[in-house]
Amino acid sequence: MPTPSVAALPIRRLTPRDLTACADLSEDRGWPREEHKWRLLLTAGKGYGIDDPGGGLVAACVITEYGPGERPDLVAIGMVLVAERHARQGVGRRLMRHIVSAMGATPLTLYATPYGRPLYEQLGFKTTGRSEMLKGPFAPGGPEPRVATRAAAAEDLGSILRLDEEVFGTDRTPLIARLPAFSDQLRVAVDGDRIVGYAAAWPNMDTQVVGPLIARDTETAKSLIASLADRTDRPLRTDIDIRHEELLAWVKERGLTSVAMNSVMTYGITELPGDWTRRFAPLTVAAG
Ligand SMILES: CC(C)(COP(=O)(O)OP(=O)(O)OC[C@H]1O[C@@H](n2cnc3c(N)ncnc32)[C@H](O)[C@@H]1OP(=O)(O)O)[C@@H](O)C(=O)NCCC(=O)NCCS
Repeated sequence: MPTPSVAALPIRRLTPRDLTACADLSEDRGWPREEHKWRLLLTAGKGYGIDDPGGGLVAACVITEYGPGERPDLVAIGMVLVAERHARQGVGRRLMRHIVSAMGATPLTLYATPYGRPLYEQLGFKTTGRSEMLKGPFAPGGPEPRVATRAAAAEDLGSILRLDEEVFGTDRTPLIARLPAFSDQLRVAVDGDRIVGYAAAWPNMDTQVVGPLIARDTETAKSLIASLADRTDRPLRTDIDIRHEELLAWVKERGLTSVAMNSVMTYGITELPGDWTRRFAPLTVAAG
């Protein structure tokens, strides 16, 4: 039987059972396997993929919907991957067109690598910002940041969700409510008995990824990062909005180095909702 053309292979929904195939696809493109992250995204979000008749996946991507369950008001797209052996045959474009049309009028956002950007531009996405990915061992020292932090307690979840919605601009309960299980650390910054910021650190390969990082101001963001770094031996990784120049300079002074730049792109809106001044880092560039 002749092998069907890749253009004719159906797009199907992925489930957490596809986790290993998704990680294999990451590896195929030279990305880390990131199974912990894939599991979160395939559980809290919706995966789409194309099966390879020869085994494994031809392509995959994940969307995460925010806002009211039945009527999301923002959708983040991430983990857009096409197996190397099927590259440059229009698969990425077909998968993205499928998502864009399935989402109808709902605004879309994504973080694009330099490889993905031309494809998204062709589909009508516009660059609205940039973020810098940094990685490295965090060296304590210098003046200590001054805002008090503590481990989040179960009863903080309501306040964290309220703060997150105010700053992110839409409700992302399905993702944030998973943070206590997904992350190694979840900490809040406090001013008296008021929560003025929060941050998680979650395990990814050999690093702890700091995100989300939401804080009243740069000093609070620094305090949260320093308190997370204090409690792990692993190098940190994070993705900071480049408008936060002071925080970027500070993490570099403390030993993190720039590893990549991503473009923040949107479709159907010109700016992301919420308050960027208090939004320092996403949970992951794959979900916003
Ligand atoms: C980016 C990616 C998903 C594109 O998938 P693909 O199926 O190869 O892309 P398509 O064949 O549909 O091409 C769509 C357009 O993307 C651009 N493009 C794709 N691969 C490219 C490459 N290697 N160099 C330059 N442009 C490229 C081109 O503009 C192309 O249109 P054209 O062929 O008409 O010129 C794929 O290369 C990939 O998985 N890369 C690694 C992971 C990654 O960076 N993902 C993006 C995350 S934001």
